[in-house]
Amino acid sequence: MCGIVGYVGNGAVSDILLGGLKNLEYRGYDSAGIALNDNGKIDIFKAPGKLGNLYAEVEGKKLPASGGIGHIRWATHGKATADNAHPHLSNDGRLALVHNGIIENYKSLREELEKDGYTFYSETDTEAAVHLFEREYKKCGSLEQAVVAGVKYLKGAFAFCIMHDSEPDKIVAVRQNAPLVVGLGKEENYIASDIPAIVGKVQRIICLNDGEIAVVTRKDVKIYDFTGKEIERQPEYIGFNPEVISKRGYPHFMLKEINEQPGIVRHLLQDAYADGGEIPCLPKVNAGAAAKAERIEIIACGTSLHAAAVAGFVFEEWLKIPVSVVAASEYIYRRPLTNEKTLVIGISQSGETADTITAVKKAKETGAHILVLTNREDSSIVRYADSLLPLKAGIEVSVAATKSYTAQLTCLYLLGLMLAGHRQSLPAEELKKLRAELQHLPSKMENVLAESAKIKDCVEKLKNYRQMIYIARGINLATAMEGALKLKEISYVNANGYPAGELKHGPIALLDENMPVLAVLTPGSRIYDKMISNCEEAKARHAFLAGVTFDNDTEADRLFDLLLTVPAVAEEFSPLILNLPLQLLAYYVAAALGREVDQPRNLAKSVTVE
Ligand code: G6P
Repeated sequence: MCGIVGYVGNGAVSDILLGGLKNLEYRGYDSAGIALNDNGKIDIFKAPGKLGNLYAEVEGKKLPASGGIGHIRWATHGKATADNAHPHLSNDGRLALVHNGIIENYKSLREELEKDGYTFYSETDTEAAVHLFEREYKKCGSLEQAVVAGVKYLKGAFAFCIMHDSEPDKIVAVRQNAPLVVGLGKEENYIASDIPAIVGKVQRIICLNDGEIAVVTRKDVKIYDFTGKEIERQPEYIGFNPEVISKRGYPHFMLKEINEQPGIVRHLLQDAYADGGEIPCLPKVNAGAAAKAERIEIIACGTSLHAAAVAGFVFEEWLKIPVSVVAASEYIYRRPLTNEKTLVIGISQSGETADTITAVKKAKETGAHILVLTNREDSSIVRYADSLLPLKAGIEVSVAATKSYTAQLTCLYLLGLMLAGHRQSLPAEELKKLRAELQHLPSKMENVLAESAKIKDCVEKLKNYRQMIYIARGINLATAMEGALKLKEISYVNANGYPAGELKHGPIALLDENMPVLAVLTPGSRIYDKMISNCEEAKARHAFLAGVTFDNDTEADRLFDLLLTVPAVAEEFSPLILNLPLQLLAYYVAAALGREVDQPRNLAKSVTVE
């Protein structure tokens, strides 16, 4: 949700800022801008729309500078216009800042500052901060002191990079409920919302904590708390190599990430069963505490919520305790029965989703054991975790989640099996059987991906529909919901997932030859025959019928207009494999329609505002 960068040093400042923003594009692409400090003069360049527009804006210009800040925006307050684009400049033209987050009390601040004579030029919440810091600077004449004085007035979430023309070699960075990392170089230092912006540039980083201010010059970095007291922080070594953010020859990150999935599952299984036992070993999970729970609540958003739904289904089967799955944005405003006997599982690929963080924080206050699944062990959500389950999917660049979903499912299966082992809620024989089934998944997934050309060929039959219904029952209802979400997100086709049994209670009114229905089937399961009946009902209403099923399905062929098959697996694990054709279908439809697959309109990869 917006990305910010800062740089001080001898490098080509504008190129470094633009390169950093390029790697943060997954955080938003409504507008972009940079501010350069050229020997005491601040120059600002900004452009609405994608980063490419800003590249065009600065192209061919000589832009000498000793430091600068940059921003990529996902609009919250105010439309995606040049006036609302960051950086914002103070009325005296001497102080510039970029911001990620929402300043909740911006209206009252704006009124106060307008009374003090400040003029506003944008509709953003951010502009209140720039005038506030100018006002405080005028009182003390020091940028860091102005920031310490100014942050006391601010409520909400904010990560800032702030600079003043009188100190061309300095950027002050602030973190409160929005991520920020400082990269330590030699005679140069970096600031960024996330590590991809500085990967390959520095070896050492300091991840700022909430309530911290970093004063960054080319020579050194000093960290202070909001009272202005200096804090000692040890840098850590960066764990990513630049290769992780390359497309490796694929036309889009999404296709690359889809193809990485079997390898991710294989590694997770290898790690969890490295000791040769039948019960997975998850070293950062406090198994004793987690297994004692009398009920489980799983909280997540978006694709992570679909992984939660699959887990909800299998956990009840395996652990024999009640499990509820709640959208984090709803959990926040409910009065759940969470207490010390509840295991609360928060799932977030980014670890920065504001709704999920707030929900997990709320659950923690009740004394529940908090178990966090995240792809980013350095993320904000981790600080609330009593137990941690890292997804180890590698950086996911495409805004539409694919490999992180598969990693979430795999980790949740492993967690369920581990808890079942500790609670002895499944017989040892069953645990052994499930383990063996799981081990076959990666190679079966590889077989599906090896045949992706077949799915590409099917796209012609589907790409011209503007709407679509996905149906399933049982454990694969989440697969249908996720498949529909994927298609909707990246192709803008109005695809919606429904429990197949609900079709007759409303959505069936939508069916005719213009409304294809895609069914997710699991032959051999107790719901298979009911699914086939629901598909017949759709067919009788002239709907084009597409299906995803196992290759041992003997019934579906006669009924479906289009059938995609995958190798048969145990029903419990079928979401892992049935999801693959749906991801590929969404991808190829979006690509055929010429959509911006990796950066769908209006979306951002991590949504750091509620
Ligand atoms: C955004 C993304 C989705 C993602 C959701 C939850 O809406 O566009 O793809 O599933 O956030 O993200 P998280 O990082 O918490 O899993």
